[in-house]
Amino acid sequence: MEKLTGTINVGVLISGRGSNLKELIKYSIKNKTNWKIKLVISNKKKAKGLRFAKKNKIANFAIEKKKEIFEKNALNLLSKNNINILCLAGFLRILSKNFINKFNKKIINIHPSLLPKYKGLNTHKRVLEAGEKYTGSTVHFVNAKLDSGKKIIQKRIKILKRDTPTSLSKRVLKIEHDIFPKALNIICKN
Ligand code: GRF
Repeated sequence: MEKLTGTINVGVLISGRGSNLKELIKYSIKNKTNWKIKLVISNKKKAKGLRFAKKNKIANFAIEKKKEIFEKNALNLLSKNNINILCLAGFLRILSKNFINKFNKKIINIHPSLLPKYKGLNTHKRVLEAGEKYTGSTVHFVNAKLDSGKKIIQKRIKILKRDTPTSLSKRVLKIEHDIFPKALNIICKN
């Protein structure tokens, strides 16, 4: 894998709301980080997150195509924009092995649970049903298996008696916004 120097170009894949994307953009501007969001790609035209990219004059594309074509176009854009690190921020599609191998650079994902627990969807409901005391969020490297790559940073919160999946998702989202930029700081440090 390449050694990262100078300003590190970060690409972000989204599918929807884009609150994590928004926080990454805000954080990198406010803290003058050595990484910056240079490209945003959504697999949904209507993704709200695309607005934050536009507002901040960041190159942004919606590719609403079947997986194979999406990945081919996305790889092209990543290469044209010299993207060094790819972040998955609420990207609701599993990347193929072929994509991961061809990109051949760091890919990181944020997941709303204390991985390796509760991979996949509907984490908050499952966490509550299981009677867990804690939950949280994890940023990890992406490999070909779902939510399974090496952990970069994880933060936990205590579950309250009155928590519902909705209240938990709000509280966990706050943690996500805190740890995602920190994960980029960690992997961009060397
Ligand atoms: C977050 O909870 C993230 O962990 C999960 O999808 C959600 C995306 O939220 N993978 P947003 O689009 O960043 O607001």
